[in-house]
Amino acid sequence: MTKAVRYDEFGGIEVLRVDDVDRPVPEDGQVLVRVRAAGINPGEAAIRTGAMADIFPSTFPSGQGSDLAGVVAEVGAGVDRFSVGDEVIGFSEKRAAQAELVLVDVDNLTPKPRNVSWEVAGGLYVAGVTAWRAVHSVQLEQGEAVVVSAAAGGVGSLAVQLARRAGATVIGLASERNHEWLQSHGVIPVAYGAGVAERIETAAPGGVDAFIDTHGGGYVELALALGVSVERIDTIADFAAAAKYGVKTEPGTDARPGAEVLAELAALIADGHLEVPIANVYPLAQVRQAYTELERRHTHGKIVLEP
Ligand SMILES: NC(=O)c1ccc[n+]([C@@H]2O[C@H](COP(=O)([O-])OP(=O)(O)OC[C@H]3O[C@@H](n4cnc5c(N)ncnc54)[C@H](OP(=O)(O)O)[C@@H]3O)[C@@H](O)[C@H]2O)c1
Repeated sequence: MTKAVRYDEFGGIEVLRVDDVDRPVPEDGQVLVRVRAAGINPGEAAIRTGAMADIFPSTFPSGQGSDLAGVVAEVGAGVDRFSVGDEVIGFSEKRAAQAELVLVDVDNLTPKPRNVSWEVAGGLYVAGVTAWRAVHSVQLEQGEAVVVSAAAGGVGSLAVQLARRAGATVIGLASERNHEWLQSHGVIPVAYGAGVAERIETAAPGGVDAFIDTHGGGYVELALALGVSVERIDTIADFAAAAKYGVKTEPGTDARPGAEVLAELAALIADGHLEVPIANVYPLAQVRQAYTELERRHTHGKIVLEP
């Protein structure tokens, strides 16, 4: 037997538990990964409560989680790219990542560089690939000004760094306690809340060219009010506003495979060009505490589970 996060019905954090389940057996093209770290994401909480049941239906018992990093424990037939003992980063498409042993399609894995920590590797997939795609979707050019909302969160903290690498002037919306971190990454910090539009205009006297919304709740309207054109606005959180105004929703049309983007991001981290802040690490048994912290929605970077 092996341990895995499970729940049997939609609900609050209390429906989450860690069960003993059968050891999974890899089929053709699959790799069994012994998970060392598995990141957690707000979307998983929305799936668990049933709030996204029309877009992402569930069957029960449900597992949880996409992000993972670990060591190859077994390979299925036809897998020649990885061997037992290899360190990998990847993702589960079956909501099964929060477990000791997880089956992953071989195409959803990439090697973990030695000097990328388990926590960082395990928390990279959802936030990293989303940030990468969001930044690409607004097509930044050298010297342009872009605003990123929730700039110090899981997705935002990576999006601001990738936008800087694209040569943009980056304005990051965050509360005061994250301003120093943003500044140290070349980002102009701006506090959100009343008066934010005026503060952004002061920070970007030449105007705002693009807007990446990683929070929702009115930032698409703010971007439009700042004069940003719809094709330069991307929201990953406000699909109603996207439908209403025709702005972009990551992942949009970018079809580059997740594992390929993961490999690019892992290389940037290994070379010291990208930082993934780790807010907290919990043992798998404390999955409820981990989501309690996440659902306060003031995480700086990533929260990660360690089986
Ligand atoms: N479409 C997709 O594929 C996709 C993928 C990933 C995530 N998402 C969605 O994107 C959103 C962000 O995900 P995440 O993992 O980055 O979340 P997260 O890490 O929980 O975001 C936390 C951040 O939100 C900030 N925040 C809280 N209230 C704010 C406000 N009123 N204005 C601006 N920022 C505020 C906090 O900043 P302070 O601490 O500074 O207050 C904190 O840094 C979630 O809704 C998630 O479901 C969508």
